[in-house]
Amino acid sequence: MERFNNYINGKWVEPLTGKYFQNINPADTSDIVGEFAESGQADVNNAVAAARAAYKIWKKVPAPKRGDIIKKAGDIFLRRKEEIAKIMTREMGKPVFETRGDIQEAIDTAYYSASETRRLFGHTVPSEMDNKMNMSFRIPIGVCGIITAFNFPLAVPSWKILPAIAAGNTVVYKPSKDVPQSGVVFAEVMEEAGVPPGVFNVVLGKGYMGNMLVEHPDIDLIGFTGSTGVGFKIGEICGRTNKKCSLEMGGKNPQIIMPDANFEVAIDGVLWGAFGTTGQRCTATSRLIVHKDVYDEILDLLVERTKKLKLGSGLLQETEVGPVIHEKQLETCEYYCKVAKEEGARLVIGGKRATGGDLDKGFFFEPTIFADITRDMRLFQEEVFGPVLAVTKADSFEHAIELANDIEFGLSSSIYTRNVNDAFRAIRDIEAGITYINAPTIGAEAHMPFGGVKGTGNGHREGGWTVFDIFTEWKTVYVDFSDKLQRAQIDNY
Ligand code: UN1
Repeated sequence: MERFNNYINGKWVEPLTGKYFQNINPADTSDIVGEFAESGQADVNNAVAAARAAYKIWKKVPAPKRGDIIKKAGDIFLRRKEEIAKIMTREMGKPVFETRGDIQEAIDTAYYSASETRRLFGHTVPSEMDNKMNMSFRIPIGVCGIITAFNFPLAVPSWKILPAIAAGNTVVYKPSKDVPQSGVVFAEVMEEAGVPPGVFNVVLGKGYMGNMLVEHPDIDLIGFTGSTGVGFKIGEICGRTNKKCSLEMGGKNPQIIMPDANFEVAIDGVLWGAFGTTGQRCTATSRLIVHKDVYDEILDLLVERTKKLKLGSGLLQETEVGPVIHEKQLETCEYYCKVAKEEGARLVIGGKRATGGDLDKGFFFEPTIFADITRDMRLFQEEVFGPVLAVTKADSFEHAIELANDIEFGLSSSIYTRNVNDAFRAIRDIEAGITYINAPTIGAEAHMPFGGVKGTGNGHREGGWTVFDIFTEWKTVYVDFSDKLQRAQIDNY
């Protein structure tokens, strides 16, 4: 069986623990993907030390030169797109057409970040004094610890790692224990692109390692995507240890359907939003809010289409919905179905493990819809991270918006309507970092800000130009060429 090691200081090294863990294909538990380093504190220390040493040199490399290397990483991802898509599908389950999209998002991010190294704009502003010039520059922050989830094995890490490195930081990356091979692939690509030793390091291991990064005294910034519970803890530790931190956490994203919507397009949107990636996206549509006038009709159409979804291994051409990531996630889906029934929701389709034929080999759950969900129910409020959709009836447009906002999260949101006034009111009134009009809650593009309000985040936005607000800080410069002492606030006023 193939063994995969850590990538530290430009070398592939065995873990000092001497331990490895196995990772399996969630669509076929007899298929062992490989054995992966189960690293410990000493491995993390080595990676951080390498990143610290490399930072001294890397931060001085002209940004456009750093960009040239990041662009090359994009070229390599592109060349290896098909092969890497299959690796990703085998280790995390989503169909190949989706993992192609995942790697494309990394390619887009590489090219975008590379181009940004020729901008990284600062401001030059007038001084209040004569013969004095005021400027400001973006500067890197230092060593960044990056911790991500399994659901986007390349796209989401790329959102953090590529701009961080483009901006002159160095990185220690801990991929999710469920997608370690994608972490290895990331390092292979960076190595081939010519990223110097120590600038990018990958340390494989299980969840406990996140804590080692977050507590590490020589890490300056933590970039995290994952659950709300873990994110809040990371925020606490970063507060105590004075690390910068960017947190991207849970969602319970609503799609609203109004009576004047194009129903067919709206149903396409729900199916893709709720069951794409088997519901395992932070941006997944987990709540559908339907106007009462069309509630029954929409539900019927939705059930009809959901029945036809083809479950199976993501490696098969015809598969539309893959497995969930592991047994524990199946249990979470089952648990929430039980709770929803106990609380009086109406199960209209699914609600159990998908079985029969090859489905018995993996972690498959039937695409599930609960109707008549009310705001006090847990399925309305809590993130499942699986193919379980909660449908709620709204009395009016205003009621729909109120329902959409009645949660602690605020990542993505969507409304289907052909009424231009309602569309713009929704843009203004929905409490979310992202609002789609006549499109599902998923579909973020790499060059636009990505992130959420309320419990979803801590105010940062990845993606686009805003990601550089996470991975840089500001140097303000005053140049006085008057040849005398000029006292701000005093001499002129
Ligand atoms: C996530 O859900 O964790 O918009 C990221 C989307 C993708 C990225 C999702 N482009 O759904």
